Amino acid sequence: MHLQLSLTARAAAAVALLLPSVAATACYANFNETEFPHCSLIDNNFALHWAINNATSPASIVFGVDVNASAFSDPWVGLGISENGGMSGADLWILKKNATGSYVIQDSYALTAGYPIPDTHQDAQLLEGPQKKGDSNTVFKFSRPLDTCDQEDATIQSDFRHHIIWAFGESADSVAKHDVKNRGNTQLVLHPTKTPPPPFNKALYESIDIVMPSFHVPAQTTNYNCTHVALPFSTKRHVVAFEGISSFQGSLDLVHHIVMWACPKAPNATVGDVYECLPQPDDCQHITFVWAPGAGVTEYPSDAGFPAGPGDGNFLYYSLQVHYNNPTLVNDVVDQSGLRLYYTDKLRENDIGMLLLGDDSDDFVIPGNSPDFTSTRDGICPATCTNQFATDLKVVFNFFHMHGLGYNMSTRVIRDGNEITPLGIRKHYDYHFQGSSVPINPLAVIKPGDTLITKCTYIPTDASHANRSANTTYGAGTDAEMCFNFLTYYPAMPGIGSCMQMSSAKSNNLAYCSSDHDPRVELIQKQYPNGTMKKESMQAMKDAGVLVNASMPVFVALKEVSQCALTDQKASGVVEIGVSVSVALFMVCLVYLM
Ligand SMILES: *[C@@H]1O[C@H](CO)[C@@H](O)[C@H](O)[C@H]1NC(C)=O
Ligand SMILES: *[C@@H]1O[C@H](CO)[C@@H](O)[C@H](O)[C@H]1NC(C)=O
Ligand SMILES: *[C@@H]1O[C@H](CO)[C@@H](O)[C@H](O)[C@H]1NC(C)=O
Ligand SMILES: *[C@@H]1O[C@H](CO)[C@@H](O)[C@H](O)[C@H]1NC(C)=O
Ligand SMILES: *[C@@H]1O[C@H](CO)[C@@H](O)[C@H](O)[C@H]1NC(C)=O
Ligand SMILES: *[C@@H]1O[C@H](CO)[C@@H](O)[C@H](O)[C@H]1NC(C)=O
Ligand SMILES: *[C@@H]1O[C@H](CO)[C@@H](O)[C@H](O)[C@H]1NC(C)=O
Ligand SMILES: *[C@@H]1O[C@H](CO)[C@@H](O)[C@H](O)[C@H]1NC(C)=O
Ligand SMILES: *[C@@H]1O[C@H](CO)[C@@H](O)[C@H](O)[C@H]1NC(C)=O
Ligand SMILES: *[C@@H]1O[C@H](CO)[C@@H](O)[C@H](O)[C@H]1NC(C)=O
Ligand SMILES: *[C@@H]1O[C@H](CO)[C@@H](O)[C@H](O)[C@H]1NC(C)=O
Repeated sequence: MHLQLSLTARAAAAVALLLPSVAATACYANFNETEFPHCSLIDNNFALHWAINNATSPASIVFGVDVNASAFSDPWVGLGISENGGMSGADLWILKKNATGSYVIQDSYALTAGYPIPDTHQDAQLLEGPQKKGDSNTVFKFSRPLDTCDQEDATIQSDFRHHIIWAFGESADSVAKHDVKNRGNTQLVLHPTKTPPPPFNKALYESIDIVMPSFHVPAQTTNYNCTHVALPFSTKRHVVAFEGISSFQGSLDLVHHIVMWACPKAPNATVGDVYECLPQPDDCQHITFVWAPGAGVTEYPSDAGFPAGPGDGNFLYYSLQVHYNNPTLVNDVVDQSGLRLYYTDKLRENDIGMLLLGDDSDDFVIPGNSPDFTSTRDGICPATCTNQFATDLKVVFNFFHMHGLGYNMSTRVIRDGNEITPLGIRKHYDYHFQGSSVPINPLAVIKPGDTLITKCTYIPTDASHANRSANTTYGAGTDAEMCFNFLTYYPAMPGIGSCMQMSSAKSNNLAYCSSDHDPRVELIQKQYPNGTMKKESMQAMKDAGVLVNASMPVFVALKEVSQCALTDQKASGVVEIGVSVSVALFMVCLVYLM
């Protein structure tokens, strides 16, 4: 059992013992620890208990749900696994009444926020309940296989922190987002097989809070507001971990996400200002720390830290961005949310670095009013660039970034003519749930000579599946599109901050391999007003290794074989060990959200 969970569970049980007359939702108030070795109070009103049952074939998970849904006379209760915290692409299990009035668990999935679609194949089974416990709580048990072999379901992976989303509301058939005030997300290892690393020890580090300066949250649904920050460090420090500080608890989920963007130089604006930041200003474009409710503490590897403070290669200035989601238009909230950075002046062996991958081409048009038009961009970071890397780079996080028409995205790796495990895959991109994800192979490195292919797919319907009537082009505004993977890695390379394609270079099969974080700034100075690159600049940049050859390499692609196909093959005795290892690593792994 996860140490933190067990402490929480015991503490909650102790409270329940001390106050037996208070029927507050708690772990093990209505289920016992023998039956459910794991429990997490994922919300004040929602205790999730679970057990892995490997006696069934295939192995399954049993959930014991204890929820205070007393606000509803006839509640539905939903729980699910999501790729990065959002509804889009999530696998959902919903307790509801069916047409003849019996409670069932409806195995469902969602393509857009708010509208679950029943799966063709129903894999979840209601085992017990729902029952009322005390005045307020609804209790039930259900199960489903860890791996259902259904494309419409998520696979519960061992030792992996899944994004868990939950919600409950009134009456079976209005499972619509805007009716739901009781919802949230968290991250849990549902199937632990080994002892997790000890929790981050805050006591070992100094910390600093970076918060919004008492900001009056506007009474409108979407607000991206920023403030400029200068860290009060006179010498270099290593940031070793960070977490969110939100003034809001429970169902008032006004803070949707918080991001600190580093600014390579002092920004033009005043420190302490507040401004709208959709899009983020050009001089603070370096995604650094990302947090959203449910994310907990994010820790860097023990031999690396983010270089904060004055001096070359370190970051002193930041733009703190808070996305306030305010659909109920509250007008009386003054906010001081932000991030707590844990840091040390005992510098670690390595600096964390950021590498920008993707396609910065400005030559694409996604036509309006064409819902079936599917387009892709392949941003190649070629061997001619990675050959300039002095050492192997350890990959800490991917951060996939497209805008509203982004559909899916991946960064694949070609080594010696063979594709190896991708750095990351997002099958259901959701602009509102971006955020960092650990690489699929937790030990992933980029080696000199590797080719990285960052591919973005766009479908011109927005998140609500409405048609966009205008053409969409490349750009920083949300009505334009981008294709970036902001990679967190170490050891930091002072010379190279981006390895990506740009249209002015792409037409000549060239890529940009440079220290400048935003290659556009540098390239624009090297172009004629018509956008063509100046011949002499081009040659100088080629000579400097900044513009490098970049054609799609010839390679043997990795085959995606599902675990279930493997099981079938195993039964007929044809499976190869090598294949199953790469397949195990191929499973999509995502850690926290934005
Ligand atoms: C149950 O939730 C309601 C809000 O919906 C709250 O008022 C009540 O105090 C909660 N009851 C317990 C026992 O936690
Ligand atoms: C735990 O709960 C299960 C199912 O209700 C029951 O069979 C079992 O006896 C309980 N065990 C303990 C130790 O209370
Ligand atoms: C089944 O689970 C039990 C208890 O968690 C564990 O001891 C046992 O090794 C597992 N068996 C298999 C085949 O995974
Ligand atoms: C509702 O669920 C019950 C119990 O599982 C089942 O017997 C019944 O056929 C279902 N009704 C419909 C309309 O699916
Ligand atoms: C905050 O952001 C919203 C929308 O993103 C904008 O309308 C508002 O003017 C911003 N306020 C400030 C002070 O930046
Ligand atoms: C900052 O100011 C400089 C000099 O006034 C100007 O050239 C530059 O474009 C400004 N940058 C931004 C992002 O506004
Ligand atoms: C939209 O793009 C198409 C090409 O895909 C072009 O023919 C058309 O003129 C564009 N429309 C507008 C309004 O820019
Ligand atoms: C989107 O536009 C296409 C082409 O104009 C049209 O056929 C379709 O009905 C529209 N869909 C929606 C949901 O508006
Ligand atoms: C992205 O979507 C396209 C179009 O549906 C599909 O062909 C492709 O396999 C998808 N890629 C990923 C990584 O899911
Ligand atoms: C862009 O401008 C330069 C310099 O005036 C000229 O040499 C070049 O031919 C132009 N390119 C295009 C595509 O118009
Ligand atoms: C880049 O490609 C050009 C044309 O294909 C070729 O002549 C040149 O040698 C290549 N340069 C390198 C460094 O591979």
